[in-house]
Amino acid sequence: MNTYNSLANNLESLELHRFRENIDKYLDMIADGSKTALDAIYELTEMEIGFRKEQTIKGCVKVANFPFLKEINEFDFSFQPSLDKAKIMDLMTLRFLENNENIIFCGTPGVGKTNLAVSIGIEAAKHRYCVYFITFQDLISQLKKAASENRLDTRIKFFCRYKVLIIDELGYQKMDVDSANLFFNLIAKRYEKSSTIITTNSPFSKWADIFQEPVLTNALLDRLLHHCSVININGPSYRLKDQMQFMTEDN
Ligand SMILES: Nc1ncnc2c1ncn2[C@@H]1O[C@H](COP(=O)(O)OP(=O)(O)OP(=O)(O)O)[C@@H](O)[C@H]1O
Ligand SMILES: [Mg+2]
Repeated sequence: MNTYNSLANNLESLELHRFRENIDKYLDMIADGSKTALDAIYELTEMEIGFRKEQTIKGCVKVANFPFLKEINEFDFSFQPSLDKAKIMDLMTLRFLENNENIIFCGTPGVGKTNLAVSIGIEAAKHRYCVYFITFQDLISQLKKAASENRLDTRIKFFCRYKVLIIDELGYQKMDVDSANLFFNLIAKRYEKSSTIITTNSPFSKWADIFQEPVLTNALLDRLLHHCSVININGPSYRLKDQMQFMTEDN
């Protein structure tokens, strides 16, 4: 086997796939003098590193369990003028993660709560933070199941592992006391250790009705709101955007 073939095999064995794919192009450039060997080797290694970073990011985004992948540049701020864009862009810097702060998106259906939570989550995943997305309902049923199987601690530890936990759709239905306690347990464990992002359509004044335990609700809100950005979104539903346009045209 000649040296070229051996090199190609070695690159495959070392799983340097980008290096392998581009080696011919670079050998040609070295041969015609348009690139020095040093520059060629450097650029090939940079390519490989770039590719690996990209793969890691893709992996982080994949395990985060997002319901869709929408980044902040796709979000139309002009559609939601009550939303403080500067505040959202500040959250996108991920500064809040350094201080283990929470974010609560509160607003009526379709105003972009889940979208914004996901966009911030993607940004965090891109920076290789452990992120996990779950609906409130799924979270509670997983905690309940774990409790009934005597493995609640393990499940709580699982959810505490994530630097960013996105809990979507809190308050869409009332819950029993056991569920409320399980949720409190999780939030108390994450308090000041990591960041929790919650989306809800219920103002805080209604949370006691949802959790059906005023004392527990106070203790829960106390922990959640201690270091927290509350983003209230008052505006039209993006889901009804096209219908709204139709209605305006009709008039
Ligand atoms: N300002 C916006 N720009 C672009 N797309 C948007 C905007 N607001 C919402 N959307 C899109 O509209 C749909 C509904 O938004 P989203 O799911 O975030 O609403 P929500 O506030 O979470 O509603 P719900 O309370 O019903 O869960 C999604 O597909 C989302 O990507
Ligand atoms: Mg939503």
